[in-house]
Amino acid sequence: MTEDFEMRKLSQAILIGIPGALLIAQFRTIQWANPPLKGDLVAPPQIKTRLRQACYDCHSNETQWPWYSYIAPISWLVERDVEGGRRQLNFSEWGSYYPTTRKRKLQWVERTLHGETMPPWHYRILHPGASLTPQDLAELEKWMESEIAEQPQKSSENNMEN
Ligand code: HEC
Repeated sequence: MTEDFEMRKLSQAILIGIPGALLIAQFRTIQWANPPLKGDLVAPPQIKTRLRQACYDCHSNETQWPWYSYIAPISWLVERDVEGGRRQLNFSEWGSYYPTTRKRKLQWVERTLHGETMPPWHYRILHPGASLTPQDLAELEKWMESEIAEQPQKSSENNMEN
């Protein structure tokens, strides 16, 4: 008898508790509004297209927020990706980086492309078009090498930092 009662109370708590928690979670709003562009990366169209498809959702101020990014708790995960991504590398603010910073970030990008760690696997599952083919990788690499070579050398002090 009492066990039955306990079970009923427990399942009631779950039935009310989970939707309740999810409902409350929706109240924490997220910055879905994209910040303005501050010197977007300039690159040949085919390079730009690939970066837009594969990287811009997290590494630019032109994030396309999917429908599930409006639903907590998934929205929190998307927000974390976008915030963390923009902080490390923001193609929309490329023009405001120092040449040495740009060079360092390009070298970072090369490393992530070599290691195939970007875009993250969970993003590739949800956005099959974001995966980079070996040909894309080769083209991006070639462009990056030329960009790295073109960045002005500021001073010997800065060079030593790299
Ligand atoms: C789903 C979001 C997402 C996408 C899409 C994405 N990134 Fe990232 N990226 C991140 C996050 C989050 C970080 C920060 C990781 C950290 O702080 O540890 C990051 C970090 C980086 C870094 C900094 C170095 C490092 O390894 O942490 C580079 C470089 C980078 N990403 C390149 C790229 C490139 C190039 C693309 C496209 C080919 C891309 N990312 C696509 C989320 C993303």
